[in-house]
Amino acid sequence: MHKAVDSVESVPRQRRTIWYMGVKTRVLPNFLDGVLADEAPLGATVVDLMSGSAAVAAHCANHYRVYANDVQRYAQVISSSLIEHDPLRKSGFLESLDARSALDSAFRSNLRALEKLYARALEAEESLLKRHASGDESDQWCADYRRFLNQPRSVYATTGQKGPASHGGLYEEAQALLSDESIAAYRHDPSRRPACLTTAYYANIYFGLRQSIVIDSLRAAIEDLPASSIHARETRTHYLSALLHVASISTSGTSHFAQPRHTTKDSELKALAARRTIDIFERFQFWSSEIALQVRETTHLSGNQTFSAPYREFINDGSQGPELRFPGPVDLVYLDPPYTADHYSRFYHVLEVLARHDYPELDRDASGSVLRGRYPKLAGRFQSEFCLKTRVEEEFRTVVHATAGAGAKLVISYASPTGLLLKEYVRRFPEKDPVEQLRQLCRERYETVRVERMPLMHSGQGDSNLQIDEILVVCTRPRGPKA
Ligand SMILES: C[S@@+](CC[C@H](N)C(=O)[O-])C[C@H]1O[C@@H](n2cnc3c(N)ncnc32)[C@H](O)[C@@H]1O
Repeated sequence: MHKAVDSVESVPRQRRTIWYMGVKTRVLPNFLDGVLADEAPLGATVVDLMSGSAAVAAHCANHYRVYANDVQRYAQVISSSLIEHDPLRKSGFLESLDARSALDSAFRSNLRALEKLYARALEAEESLLKRHASGDESDQWCADYRRFLNQPRSVYATTGQKGPASHGGLYEEAQALLSDESIAAYRHDPSRRPACLTTAYYANIYFGLRQSIVIDSLRAAIEDLPASSIHARETRTHYLSALLHVASISTSGTSHFAQPRHTTKDSELKALAARRTIDIFERFQFWSSEIALQVRETTHLSGNQTFSAPYREFINDGSQGPELRFPGPVDLVYLDPPYTADHYSRFYHVLEVLARHDYPELDRDASGSVLRGRYPKLAGRFQSEFCLKTRVEEEFRTVVHATAGAGAKLVISYASPTGLLLKEYVRRFPEKDPVEQLRQLCRERYETVRVERMPLMHSGQGDSNLQIDEILVVCTRPRGPKA
């Protein structure tokens, strides 16, 4: 039996998160929370090495000092909004939050400028979405909505639409904004206004047109918040985190941004229209309150910090072998790596672009056309070696040696039998138990390694409705490297 986590009153309710592959919201209650409580005393220092949605980092912030890292910038924004709070200044910050008055003027000015350029297309979209909301799913509605979505030149770098600018199209007034020269100027100076990144890159693809314009206007207003106010960093991070949450749950894709939906099937068009009626501003206020509530309910310790780097940047290669280094001594490291070959930088590229706000160049195929997914160029997207079957074992080994070198306990989340390393073990040593192989790898630097299991139905990472075991590999009593 695991320790009770805490008295019920002092435990914040389960936080809602962005939609995220491998999010640990189902694994925390009655499983991971108990293991953490058993292994790290209240007040210990815990590292969440790959924090993703921050479900675990935010849980830990109520019990421990937390260092949270993830290579993706959006993940850092989210974890920072939840855990990087000075206990003494927190209530002042929370009281200062007021989205309408803080953002209203910059928001409106950006909105008006884009509304002007997109007036005809916005009118057409509004009428189509209203028809759908009032129950019209007729063949005629599908044909009209499909025609609207397939209007040429509605976004920057439109695949396969080279040649003279369209005349008379719904997007004619926006053509100057969407030109290569214009976007290059934004890339050079992202503070140009009106901010148009979401509209120029993803309108009618991952979001509706009005949704994109509202996202851009909120993003501009967040960027323009005064840098001098006493809570400037927390305030900007808070609103950007709220915006990332809204973008995540408003995607016109299923639950991520790996591919936009096709518009050929009527059922897909209806699903698109349903998502595109989400009111971004209203949802933004909801998420702002939700995050504020979570922060209010958490008893933060001082010294929490967040980072956005490949984990290897936290490794010192000392003479005694590698060692994980953070700003202070660490008691326990939680490692929740990607489980499969799916790169997070592809599934969540839109969140990354929104966080960075840098108008990236887009990936193109051999013929020079922008890829359907409209991903930033591959060179700008992090490729995790946990997603490569030739590298994954070495990645685990590197973490195990570095955390043991730092004298910390290690808790690893993984899935059996679907985790990439376990599949690789089965391929290489079909006669051996793959989980035992992973345990032996951890035993290279830990005296005691136990495996705990929780049966779960998987609905992500390509393993829909598959019964799997979520496993926790709990490594204690670190020891030095063998001579
Ligand atoms: C399974 S998810 C973590 C989920 C998280 N615990 C949650 O509850 O939302 C894996 C994370 O690892 C991050 N990641 C992958 N490779 C990384 C690396 N080399 N360094 C740092 N982060 C990495 C990804 O960006 C992704 O957010």
